[in-house]
Amino acid sequence: MRDLDEFTVTDEALEQMARTKNPRLKEIMDAAVRHLHAFARDVNLTPEEWLTGIQFLTQVGHACTPLRQEFILLSDVLGLSAVVNALHDKKARELGSQSSLLGPFYREGAPLLPMGAQIVETPTVEEIVIYGKITDNDGTPLPNALIQVWQTSERGGYDLQERQGESMDMRGNFMTGADGAYHFRTVRPLGYSIPMDGPVGTMVVSQGRHGMRPSHIHCLIGAEGHRELVTALYFGDDPNIDSDTVFGVSQALVVEAKDDPASPIPGLRAVHYDFRLAKAAPGESGRVGADPTKLMKAAE
Ligand code: BEZ
Ligand code: FE
Repeated sequence: MRDLDEFTVTDEALEQMARTKNPRLKEIMDAAVRHLHAFARDVNLTPEEWLTGIQFLTQVGHACTPLRQEFILLSDVLGLSAVVNALHDKKARELGSQSSLLGPFYREGAPLLPMGAQIVETPTVEEIVIYGKITDNDGTPLPNALIQVWQTSERGGYDLQERQGESMDMRGNFMTGADGAYHFRTVRPLGYSIPMDGPVGTMVVSQGRHGMRPSHIHCLIGAEGHRELVTALYFGDDPNIDSDTVFGVSQALVVEAKDDPASPIPGLRAVHYDFRLAKAAPGESGRVGADPTKLMKAAE
């Protein structure tokens, strides 16, 4: 037996975990322990601070419900989700259009709507149209591609916030025809604050951050034999376009609604965006994230 200090306890913990059967679990837990110990030494963590951290994580857990995933939100505002997204894309055999975060407001089972439908039940501001093609990386149109879209309203709330999850709005699914084209009507979503009424919001405020996401429309696009694409289109004139709280914006995803004679719905300002999907190995997905209701079910 040897006496342990703040350094040798790390070796001892790694030694005890050395018989972990699953090699990937061992790799992840070894690194987690090494980095956690190094972090505590780095900031010279006090017992009070350690307890504050434990209390904070406990509150994050308590804030989770079937409609809210506070841990994903924590990962998002710390930039971890963006790092995992980037690492995941780096491993792909081939990449399509730029990806972005799935976020916590994705829901499976949104209605399949006829092409061109309005996704907002009662629009109170100018309607716009979003249109384009879904192709492979060679530009060949992909028929039967499913594009799922969801966004906030013109007031800046998702249906889960404005309707407490009782019914869906501002979301819809569309299936492309032979030409790979898609289009739908919507309203320009308002940029919004991430949910600030929980422990993650309190942390964000204490960091002097605004907690806003710039106006955007989420898209999850899948087609047989292709890598699923999780992305979003961001409106470039939003005041927070350069300071997204969850680090989801890329230049390639910045759009503008403008008069467009080529739009399939004349008379409405339009955003034209063509999406490219990469070829995938069967079962390969570009999805980093999940419908939070599914996460809760899996944890039960
Ligand atoms: C969203 O885009 O819906 C979102 C993403 C991360 C955190 C909060 C919201
Ligand atoms: Fe969003």
